[in-house]
Amino acid sequence: MSADKNTALIILAAGRGTRMNSELPKVLHPLGGVPLVVHAMDSAARAEPERTVIVAGHGAEAVSKSVREYNEDADIVLQEEQLGTGHAVMQAREALSGFEGNALVLFGDTPFISKETIDKLLTARENHDVVLLGMDSADPKRYGRLVTDGDSLERVVEYKDAAPHEKRITLCNGGIVAADASLLFELLDQVSNDNASGEYYLPDVVFLARQRGLSAGYVICAEEETQGINTRSDLAIAEKLFQDMKRAEIMENGVTLAAPETVFLSYDTVIGRDSVIEPNVIFGPGVTVESDAQIRAFSHLEGCHVSRGAQVGPYARLRPGAELSEFTRIGNFVEVKNAQIHEGAKVNHLSYIGDAEIGAGSNIGAGTITCNYDGVMKHKTTIGERAFIGSNTMLIAPVTVGDEAMTASGSVITSDVEAGALAVARARQDVKPGLARRLTDKLKAIKAKKG
Ligand code: UD1
Ligand code: CA
Repeated sequence: MSADKNTALIILAAGRGTRMNSELPKVLHPLGGVPLVVHAMDSAARAEPERTVIVAGHGAEAVSKSVREYNEDADIVLQEEQLGTGHAVMQAREALSGFEGNALVLFGDTPFISKETIDKLLTARENHDVVLLGMDSADPKRYGRLVTDGDSLERVVEYKDAAPHEKRITLCNGGIVAADASLLFELLDQVSNDNASGEYYLPDVVFLARQRGLSAGYVICAEEETQGINTRSDLAIAEKLFQDMKRAEIMENGVTLAAPETVFLSYDTVIGRDSVIEPNVIFGPGVTVESDAQIRAFSHLEGCHVSRGAQVGPYARLRPGAELSEFTRIGNFVEVKNAQIHEGAKVNHLSYIGDAEIGAGSNIGAGTITCNYDGVMKHKTTIGERAFIGSNTMLIAPVTVGDEAMTASGSVITSDVEAGALAVARARQDVKPGLARRLTDKLKAIKAKKG
């Protein structure tokens, strides 16, 4: 269906989200490290939308900025007053003027719609003018109810407007609508707000379509998929569900998670086969780990790439731009940011490596710091291959240390060190025989005098 017909995606995200009790618009609250609305966009990506229109309200500017990081072509339109889901969709009309094809409407606060469900909706569209997503709810609470006649959907009645016998229907509206775009806007023109909520209801397009003799249908998905986020506690429940799903996916891909419930993944975390992740590891967004790597306990990774056979942690922190080549080692209490660590290089203990390049096979001693920031600008440290950086070396960037060069422990390296050279940049040791003992005796005498 998506192949022979264009799809325009409309995501409703104008609701105030009052119950989140937040300055941040509801759809920007993160789930698995990315805003809720990105999850909706991702589900709908299955329909290969030509156009994406986000209907924003509260915090539209922030929504716009954030959405464009994921889809720079998305249109953000404003719904100034939240007059209902039908009214919200109408706000997309101008942005889609001239668009011909299918419209697919999703809610921005409903992150778990599966790709299979989108497939089902697109397939059903081949046989119906309007298709809704239905779900069988065990506890239908306040959902809209689908009034059906066999395979045909007759109308949707909101809980508030439902007669007692309609309230007993358990087949509920999951929120997604698919219809030809021009037809959808035409039908919405006729939707009134003459109902218990005084709102323009999107699902009213169903009975309007039926009145015209058009066909309406529905597909069914699991109720969990339609779970919307309204409160912080909904968000926490959703995060747990997301984590469990992502952990299962990672393990299916051949990764060992020693204690899966303690490993936190992001939406886009990729981990290669036969890698082992120890307990209490956190993956922020943008992390790719290749095969046979080992991420040891209590490490924190974000925006980085770990190549095959590398070992990270325990207690390591990889920040954005950390690029670890094959068989590198990043040990305990080491922080790496915007740095390439080339094949087989080791930074095993207590170091900060930022804005740097460490050549293959080099060894960075304990306590080494790349002093990359002068308070105003960031500068680069370049270390060649098979270099040996002595413990507690301060590398004052910009600075270059050549291949097979060495720095003496405790050195403060302020200028370049050529290949093969040894740089010693510390005070020479001075030994005063007997001075320690004499000093101690003197101090003890002072203390005794004071009583
Ligand atoms: C809606 C459906 C209901 C369905 C339920 C499923 C309508 C009238 N009702 O009810 O049949 O069972 O979803 O969860 O559609 N929004 C706007 N602008 C508005 C109003 C809403 O952008 O003026 C957005 C909200 O931000 C939200 C979504 O639309 O993301 C759904 O709105 P909400 O008020 O939660 O609808 P429900 O009452 O839950
Ligand atoms: Ca809702």
